[in-house]
Amino acid sequence: MRLTDEEQAMFDGNEGPALQRAMDLLMRYGNALGAERLVETNNVCASISATTPFMRDYAAKHGSMDAVFSEFSLDSADTVAIPKVRAFTSHLQLGFDPEQPQRMGLTEETVQFYRKGETFITGLGVQAMNTCTPYQVGNIPTRGEHCAWMESSAVIYCNSVLGARTNTEGRESVGAAMLTGRIPYWGYHIDANRRGTHHVELEIEVETTADWGMLGYHIGELVQERVPVVSGIVGKVPNLARLKHFGAAASSSGGVEMYHLVGITPEAPTLEKAFGGAMPVDVPVLRYGAAERSIIWEKLNATGRDRAVDYVMLGCPHYTIEQIWEAAKLLEGRRVHENCELWLFTPRAIKTLSDQNGYTRIIEAAGGHIFSDSCSAMSRATPKGTKVVALDSAKQAHYLPAILGVQAWFGSTAECIDAACTGRFNGRPA
Ligand code: F3S
Repeated sequence: MRLTDEEQAMFDGNEGPALQRAMDLLMRYGNALGAERLVETNNVCASISATTPFMRDYAAKHGSMDAVFSEFSLDSADTVAIPKVRAFTSHLQLGFDPEQPQRMGLTEETVQFYRKGETFITGLGVQAMNTCTPYQVGNIPTRGEHCAWMESSAVIYCNSVLGARTNTEGRESVGAAMLTGRIPYWGYHIDANRRGTHHVELEIEVETTADWGMLGYHIGELVQERVPVVSGIVGKVPNLARLKHFGAAASSSGGVEMYHLVGITPEAPTLEKAFGGAMPVDVPVLRYGAAERSIIWEKLNATGRDRAVDYVMLGCPHYTIEQIWEAAKLLEGRRVHENCELWLFTPRAIKTLSDQNGYTRIIEAAGGHIFSDSCSAMSRATPKGTKVVALDSAKQAHYLPAILGVQAWFGSTAECIDAACTGRFNGRPA
């Protein structure tokens, strides 16, 4: 790879050992990818904490978070002092919500360690947003901005909805990117790779967040890691929550990192433009109608057998304030069933807004709970004895049965809240 003078100086160690390790890592990574150069970035989304038991043990053994960063974020054989970050960096979701240790089954020791990690993170200048949806709470890159983001549901939103540019990075590459302000220039940083590869024509109206989740799940299965272009969208323009659920589902069933919605997303003003002017001739148009939707509904509900539900989880990806408002409206004046628990997940900043607007009070009065920083899939935390869950997220329906061995029902938000209040999932096939 060609380096600028500034990059060469970092690589040569003129800016200290941590930046030298970071540049060494970026060079190895970029060369493996076939990148010819690095690109400047001032927008990184990363996970650098140590909330897993394995990393906590490592930190205890080696005595510092610098050791954890050196080993797991810089692939460095020796521990180096980690300087403040150069690039604007926000922290992704963590292992649990430290504000509700009993419900999450946390020991005091774990909470203390968590606080230590947060002090380390903020000491480096990393924004402790602690969410898979940084674009909701202050990290909103602009169109064309080069980024280095982890977290598949955030990456697909960044590329597709915001028109910013990132690949799905890993813990090591973002660790190096935040220190140097560089990332290899390849993949979705390059115009040619952002063009559509598959055309999906809608034959039905797609409306609710559950509908958009099912569409995303279907498309991800079909195109895997390519770039779908969806046309035929009628009715309401999908809002942030619907696109969040759509992208999260497409990146779970497949590995989609970028899509175009004709007439909606920024790089698809027309069908032709979404394909970069060259429509694929050898790939058949894929169609999504009532039959496809009902097959996806069946797949997402494949593990559901008992209609008696003991846990309803909402907020994957983390709920928007609009979704919390909707949930509060659906719950107002009702009670969560005595055999069921209702947990919602949202970024910490939105939880504060929910408190301020009175939604937390309504949800808690009904017997529900709002958490931040994590989710059941990340924390492996569910109410004690959970066997059957109801979810309004296709992504969570994809992962939770596999991670926790529970049965899962997938339905609309209203169906899930009904399940929480009646203790039974009565959602109907799509
Ligand atoms: Fe976020 Fe957890 Fe879903 S971190 S995307 S809520 S699996």
